[in-house]
Amino acid sequence: MSKVKFYHGGNIPLEMHKVRIVQKLNLPPVERRVEAIKEAGNNTFLLKNSDIFMDMLTDSGVNAMSDNQLAAMMQADDSYAGSETFTRLENKIREIFDKRFFLPAHQGRACENILAQGLVKPGAIVATNYHFTTTKAHITLQSGSVEELVIDEGLNVNSNHPFKGNMDIEKLNVLIEKHGAENIAFVRLEAGTNLIGGQPFSLQNMREVQKVCKDFGIILILDASLLADNLYFIKEREEACKDMSIRKITRIMSELSDVIYFSARKLGCARGGGLCTNSEEIYLKLREYITLYEGFLTYGGMSVREMEAITVGLEETMDEDMINQGPRFIAYMVEKLQEKGVPVVTPAGGLGCHIDAMSFVDHIPQSQYPAGALAAALYIAGGVRGMERGTISEQRDEQGNEVFANVELLRLAMPRRVFTLSQVEYAIDRVVWLYENRKLIEGLTFVEEPKVLRFFFGKLTAVSDWQTRLAAKFREDFGDSL
Ligand code: F0G
Repeated sequence: MSKVKFYHGGNIPLEMHKVRIVQKLNLPPVERRVEAIKEAGNNTFLLKNSDIFMDMLTDSGVNAMSDNQLAAMMQADDSYAGSETFTRLENKIREIFDKRFFLPAHQGRACENILAQGLVKPGAIVATNYHFTTTKAHITLQSGSVEELVIDEGLNVNSNHPFKGNMDIEKLNVLIEKHGAENIAFVRLEAGTNLIGGQPFSLQNMREVQKVCKDFGIILILDASLLADNLYFIKEREEACKDMSIRKITRIMSELSDVIYFSARKLGCARGGGLCTNSEEIYLKLREYITLYEGFLTYGGMSVREMEAITVGLEETMDEDMINQGPRFIAYMVEKLQEKGVPVVTPAGGLGCHIDAMSFVDHIPQSQYPAGALAAALYIAGGVRGMERGTISEQRDEQGNEVFANVELLRLAMPRRVFTLSQVEYAIDRVVWLYENRKLIEGLTFVEEPKVLRFFFGKLTAVSDWQTRLAAKFREDFGDSL
């Protein structure tokens, strides 16, 4: 992809694949969009697909699959135990990550449950560059806690730091000194750090983290769910890795990790997950939980068809043309929005384009959920479904007080190989219109608030009739257009 230049000099990401299966989309009129978001309690997770034009909620389980993945799914070997399909997946894991032991699990959070049950004792600390919602929930469920050690620059939404997902080595050393290495269950590095805008860490940083872990005898775990994006950025932005193959960078990252786990809903573009390690001790500790919570050791809750698709998908992840597509489309969107003055997280990361809601709607207080309000507003403006990644995605503290997020983001995920550039242009257009009309957007307040992972099921209502007024302005500006 990066090798093709346009004669007129435009920086346009060119797809190195063609579309052979399509799904018709529906764009309901703005009046229906106002109704639909109200029915969904202003929570984009609760919208129905038939009401959505561009689904930018997530890249999880919705990436386009390749012809080779679909073909492999037809040749799956179905059996409870000892399936050939499992052996093929296990061999692929061995080949790519060079890890002897592989444990299958039905998705990423299932791996997190197994890791938390197996390795987190009450009172233990997990040090991480940045938490992910489900990871933190599983650790706290085991009465452990999470310490975030991302570099300060990581929380700076506008930056030109190429690796905002780096862990601060100084902070790690201070944490170990303060609590003692024996009280740290493990260090977790999240590739393509999700909640701060899909930001990568560098290979150099990983080496430094690993050195500290090794010196103190602490387990280093890599969450490889967003590894594809992180690999792309290492090759693209880290001088020392420019001439390394993706396979080689993967191998080095793997050598530095004691355990690797992943959501195959992201990595490998299918649906499933798994953990791998070279430590027999860790393997044996975790193994019993797989059979308890997931399934037998040769399927772990996954369908054999999905396992075949993961095997092919992991191999395809080693292809630069494949892993370039997401980040380059995201960079395109970020650049175009920046040109129009829309506040976006920079530098462009993986996973999706992240809009800085704190600044987009700076008139909405955090107690009225600016990122959630912006997500609802963008759905009304264009039938585009994004995801709130701000205070609604946090949990209240033990006293029931709101925990305000460090950053209030509206994530517009870019599922891999799914959207065309004209659809991305449409999303940009609607975001820009919304930005020009941002003063019409007001806050939200909870009407139903679950205690755990409230962002999935919680229902909110608008603090005024701002959504009706926003739709009226849309009609005024767009006439009878959808
Ligand atoms: N780790 C990371 C970094 C993730 O982004 C996710 C999921 C998980 C673990 C959990 O994996 O969904 O297969 O159970 N992220 C999804 C998202 C949900 O939309 O960002 P899972």
